[in-house]
Amino acid sequence: MFREILLRASESELVQHVVQTAPGSRTVVRRFVAGAGVEDAVRAATDLEGAGLRVTLDHLGEDTTDPARARAVRDAYLDLIARLSAAGLTGGGQAEASLKLSAVGQALPDGEKIALDHAREICSAAHAAGTTVTLDMEDHTTTDSTLAVLQELRVDFPTTGAVVQAYLHRTEGDCHDLATAGSRVRLCKGAYAEPASVAHQGAHEVDLSYVRCLKVLMAGQGYPMIATHDPRLVAIAGSLAGQYGRAAGSYEYQMLYGVRPEEQRRLAARGETMRVYVPYGTQWYGYLTRRLAERPANTGFFLRALVSRG
Ligand code: FDA
Repeated sequence: MFREILLRASESELVQHVVQTAPGSRTVVRRFVAGAGVEDAVRAATDLEGAGLRVTLDHLGEDTTDPARARAVRDAYLDLIARLSAAGLTGGGQAEASLKLSAVGQALPDGEKIALDHAREICSAAHAAGTTVTLDMEDHTTTDSTLAVLQELRVDFPTTGAVVQAYLHRTEGDCHDLATAGSRVRLCKGAYAEPASVAHQGAHEVDLSYVRCLKVLMAGQGYPMIATHDPRLVAIAGSLAGQYGRAAGSYEYQMLYGVRPEEQRRLAARGETMRVYVPYGTQWYGYLTRRLAERPANTGFFLRALVSRG
């Protein structure tokens, strides 16, 4: 219920304006977002890699309704990849990029083609820099289109990563389709407000689905990317890796920047591959409200910050 209210609030322009201009917002944003500029993203990536963590960088923004904006987002990713490469961070896929197709035009008329063309240019630059791209998954109305674009991209760039969301009823089937040799698949719970017709509504059902999907990915031929902060699911992933004879390095854990940072370092110190999802940019509103919806405790922190003086 509370999660629903926050996710709906994320769509309100009035709420967005109030939050974006509140003096204390910056305090909260700083915790979850690396900074406004590409140099902040490169700095965060350098620090995290120095601590033995891998990174995936997200230039914040989604739901682009203007072709010029879609091109600008593409250019921002090309600039990001060039700078990461110049800083020596991309070799061997150490730093990769996470891309929302809606940011590069998926919702425009003929948007699937526009998004594919932009994503192809970004994948090509990533490939030349020795790394890859993962396509974030957005609300369920985009799932088929995103998987279709993924399939096209994988013809030339087979390491392009997929994301699947355990809360969707369809996802176990998608995991079977995606668990092929070399296929990088990020499994997350899912962050959008979805109707009961397409998604499990209870946390327990989502967790059970996550475990079923994880078993399919761990048993398959691909490269599972276990994106969760949930301690029980992290523990289950560890025992499934043992059960399916997977060595460290044949799968990875992923967590968000600013969420359970000690656990990120603990897993890396244990010899696990840990990748941190690092968002940066000025369009932080939708991303941040989804993070707050996941954890009521963060909302108290947020409300206190909003009424403080920043
Ligand atoms: P859950 O929300 O149940 O949290 C489990 C525990 O983790 C909590 O009890 C708390 O201890 C801690 N925790 C979780 N969230 C926290 C927070 N915000 N602040 C502090 N502590 C927190 N979604 C999507 O729909 N499409 C996508 O492409 C992606 N991509 C993605 C990449 C990566 C690397 C991650 C980690 C997550 C995503 N997500 C996503 C988001 C995902 O779907 C989900 O909403 C969040 O990861 C929260 O779910 P958890 O699995 O962490 O469990």
